[in-house]
Amino acid sequence: MDKIRIRGGQPLSGDIVIGGAKNAGLPLMAAGLLTAGRLVLTNVPKLADIHTMAQLLAQHGVAVDNATNDGRALSIGGPITNTEAPYDIVRKMRASVLVLGPLVARVGEARVSLPGGCAIGTRPIDLHLKGLEQMGAVIRLDGGYVHASAPKGLHGAAIVMPMPSVGATENLLMAASLANGLTTIANAAREPEITDLCDCLVAMGAKITGIGSDRLTIEGVPALHGATHRIIPDRIETGTYACAAAISGGSVKLLGGRIDHLGALVRVLLEAGVEVTQQGDDISVKRLNGLHGVDAMTEPYPGFPTDMQAQYMALMSVAEGAAMVTETIFENRFMHVPELNRLGARINVHGASAIVRGVKQLSGAQVMATDLRASVSLVLAGLAARGDTVVNRVYHLDRGYEAVEQKLAACGADIERIPG
Ligand code: EPZ
Repeated sequence: MDKIRIRGGQPLSGDIVIGGAKNAGLPLMAAGLLTAGRLVLTNVPKLADIHTMAQLLAQHGVAVDNATNDGRALSIGGPITNTEAPYDIVRKMRASVLVLGPLVARVGEARVSLPGGCAIGTRPIDLHLKGLEQMGAVIRLDGGYVHASAPKGLHGAAIVMPMPSVGATENLLMAASLANGLTTIANAAREPEITDLCDCLVAMGAKITGIGSDRLTIEGVPALHGATHRIIPDRIETGTYACAAAISGGSVKLLGGRIDHLGALVRVLLEAGVEVTQQGDDISVKRLNGLHGVDAMTEPYPGFPTDMQAQYMALMSVAEGAAMVTETIFENRFMHVPELNRLGARINVHGASAIVRGVKQLSGAQVMATDLRASVSLVLAGLAARGDTVVNRVYHLDRGYEAVEQKLAACGADIERIPG
């Protein structure tokens, strides 16, 4: 298995291209199941998870073709010949569950493996299932699979989410687009990826109002047509490279990044001593003087993103003073803490909060993490550590960061991939 070796101490300087958002691309690909026409997605990132979703769609009989030579545009379409999402694909990527709503809505049935728990928490899908039941689907759990059927089609419903789940909002939005009648989703998630999905569905002929708010209204239509849609830039990749610039004491330009998608992260970074500003189509990031410890609590968008918690903790581990970092979205998202501590950080976890006491210098070591954002937090810590840091199990990084070592090396980092 590949590893990444980093020798810390070089301030980053230069430009980094921000790719299309993984977490927008995955539901958008699933939306390709909603139409007999072709959905063309552009600005597609080259990531392992995108490849896995393409495999899943192919398994349903739907063709996923490159629409351009550079592999950054996908054309999705074709008849659905199989409604099963098998365990072998779903266990690799939880976002596979996003095919459930589109399949039931379009062909009246789906059999999707239950995703089960994962490294960051139990992550149930009860809200996806309850919403579909309200829309008339009959749900049965059997042999580790969810079987959903609605042979006469789905109907509109008034859905109130007890908590704003990103995935459930996406699944129900897609299902409601083809349901008979009006659906409302109250307390819906408002992440930019949801707005991107709404924009694409509207381009495909869906009737959605309240886009960008926590109350979505969808008037179902009998069929959706093909469309071309550009995926938004990845706000988590943007935030990650902002933290990389900050922890290395450098300054970078993030090409194509959107500050209006970063939510509370911008204010927290500024308080900590990192200036993040939009300059035309790009974002400029500069560490001002010293870094200061600033508390942060993860919340649904536009609050501080849980997907930035690990990277921010790496940054706080070299700040002056202390920071309390509280995780409210997932119950087990601190697996990076013991690994950061192996690099010399001083972090103690108490329930859902971690106290990070800044140290003057981290020191390199062998580390490994069990999820994507935890892995990249170790790369960031390595940029600031004395000596060599070797991050093992790089396949987690490849799920969500395209060419991370090349992007950082182009800005002066001493970093290389060691093929395993
Ligand atoms: C999405 O996951 C993202 N994944 C995650 O990114 C991200 O961390 C998360 O949203 C929160 O922002 C994709 O978009 C593919 P949720 P999702 O449903 O949709 C609970 C990354 O690193 N819940 O908003 O699975 C759930 O357990 C990944 O890129 C239920 O209880 O997240 C969690 O505590 C990791 N029942 C909370 O809601 C349900 O039916 C929010 O989860 C659904 C969710």
